[in-house]
Amino acid sequence: CSRHFFVGGNWKCNGTLESTDKLVDALNNVLIPSNIEVVFAPTSLHIARAQQKLQHKEIKVAAQNAWVKGNGAYTGEISADMLKDAGLEWVILGHSERRSLCGESSQIVADKTVYCLKQGIKVIVCIGETLEQRESGDTSKVVTEQLGAVAQALGTDVSQWKQIVIAYEPVWAIGTGKVATADQAQEVHQTLRSWLSSNTSAEVAQSTRIIYGGSVSAKNCTELASLPDVDGFLVGGASLKPEFADIIKSGS
Ligand code: G3H
Repeated sequence: CSRHFFVGGNWKCNGTLESTDKLVDALNNVLIPSNIEVVFAPTSLHIARAQQKLQHKEIKVAAQNAWVKGNGAYTGEISADMLKDAGLEWVILGHSERRSLCGESSQIVADKTVYCLKQGIKVIVCIGETLEQRESGDTSKVVTEQLGAVAQALGTDVSQWKQIVIAYEPVWAIGTGKVATADQAQEVHQTLRSWLSSNTSAEVAQSTRIIYGGSVSAKNCTELASLPDVDGFLVGGASLKPEFADIIKSGS
């Protein structure tokens, strides 16, 4: 299919200058197949260091979050304007940790997405249900509502959708070692794609990348990568380990 396989590493709130150097050195030596797009997101404090160390032209540094507006009196925040100025191309928005720990609503995530795209920053939009929501049979409802807020903001313009990647990350699978089964992942990815088809257009549904996140490892990535509606991964813990290179290659 024409969707370019995408692998993102999310370092979350981890790292030192020394570990950043080591991880980037390791990435510099990874041969990236031409059909795979790779980004990794250090903390805001380590972005510049990672950019300095990165020699690999096929790998991009991303940010883990951005403020909803431009520069101004927003203490502690980083704007998309700054990300652009610093030469970044990608940002992760709406990660479940930001939704649950920092109270980010789907509307805020959609507003941030629109602002970042306007500044020319591409967005990895994260969505996903909790265990409780899954057990009450609400998975489709939750993930389509989360996606719906972004869809309402972006409309049907396929050129906008090409600037985003949807990361389906079931909350119960994040950092738990309990990866979604192939059937569970495919079912939700397919639901999201058909929702896009009905609510935006067939073209948007076919061209938008939907990646999976939640306990992805070197052991489980090959099966997940082979699923028809899984277009890549957002990797947390394993992106801090040498196995990230194996996960990247699973898409080839
Ligand atoms: O953004 C990445 C996800 O939260 C997945 O984290 O691979 O440690 O489960 P994990």
